[in-house]
Amino acid sequence: MAELLRAGTITDFAAKGHLIVKISREEICVVSDGERFYALENSCSHMGSQIHRGDIVDGNIVCPWHRARFVLATGKSLDLYASDIKSYRVVVEADVIYVDPEPVSSPPAP
Ligand code: FES
Repeated sequence: MAELLRAGTITDFAAKGHLIVKISREEICVVSDGERFYALENSCSHMGSQIHRGDIVDGNIVCPWHRARFVLATGKSLDLYASDIKSYRVVVEADVIYVDPEPVSSPPAP
């Protein structure tokens, strides 16, 4: 198992409404539906918008550019014009939010 990455504290999350973790050139965003935290690839598979800027609606996050919808828990795309994005496991210990850098689900190889 890969070492968990520290995303920030719950207080940090409350201040920003999201957290970002970088793995080399990729970003992972931590977002929440108000009940639990989710970690997703922060680049939309359609044209690369930052996913964390999207709206959260009914268990999905909606891309701010062209409104593609992705399931928060899995990164699965619900729209044909966007493919799935990676999702990651989130661990909360005390006040700290960690992300496992190993994707839980990955889009299929092209
Ligand atoms: S960039 Fe996300 S739907 Fe187009």
